[in-house]
Amino acid sequence: MAHHPKLRLGVNVDHVATVRNARGGARPDPVRAALMAIEAGADGITAHLREDRRHIRDDDMERLKAAITKPLNFEMAATEQMLDIALRIKPHACCLVPEKRTERTTEGGLDVIGGQGHLAPYIAELARGGVRVSLFIEPDEEAILTAAALKAPVIELHTGSWCHAFENGEAARAEAEFQRIVRGARTARAAGLECHAGHGLDFETARRIAALPEIVELNIGHFLMGEALFVGLPKAIATMRAAMDAGRAEAARS
Ligand code: PXP
Repeated sequence: MAHHPKLRLGVNVDHVATVRNARGGARPDPVRAALMAIEAGADGITAHLREDRRHIRDDDMERLKAAITKPLNFEMAATEQMLDIALRIKPHACCLVPEKRTERTTEGGLDVIGGQGHLAPYIAELARGGVRVSLFIEPDEEAILTAAALKAPVIELHTGSWCHAFENGEAARAEAEFQRIVRGARTARAAGLECHAGHGLDFETARRIAALPEIVELNIGHFLMGEALFVGLPKAIATMRAAMDAGRAEAARS
């Protein structure tokens, strides 16, 4: 039987803060969601401190770091200000993402090829600070090999294009996008990178991607928070965990 390492689930709590900020008070609290997610089986918590602080704020990140017992994955743009905050908070990991003020969510992966010179010192500084660095990139061979050359230990493959095509019922495009992810995950492992994936995943896409043994972590937020409105956060996370375990087990049997 092929070796399939455990697939970790990182729960992104950004949109608990989005709902809170709609009214400007303290509720709902993303830290409470993080604690509940861990209780329900999350292996880590992810939060994105955006430049415009539209959801997570600086004190949320500090409170998350202080409160949770599982790894904190701090998503951020490669800027001086974010680097200072990350080195002060010292999360377990930092995922470097591209950021545009006008976007609704992280559109596309980092331009690692054109941005090598800019990214290299951030990767080095974070590593020196004891933070595990991950680069959020498209499942593109050249980008993956560039991430390895930049000595980032981890990459996170952007699954947005695949999930978007899948959700829209564009079967042929979805399959082509999925095959890009399959090739990307293999390229990453062969290059010695730890491979994560995320963006736009739901129960079905998480189950399917769980079959790829090269991928060891999924980061999921928006869909889980939407489900939580209807079934509660613990049930949404337990169902996601079961979908991931089922996808992994099917692949291990084949
Ligand atoms: N991974 C990264 C790097 C992200 O930027 C995001 C969105 O913030 C996610 C995963 C989670 O995406 P979603 O909220 O669509 O599940």
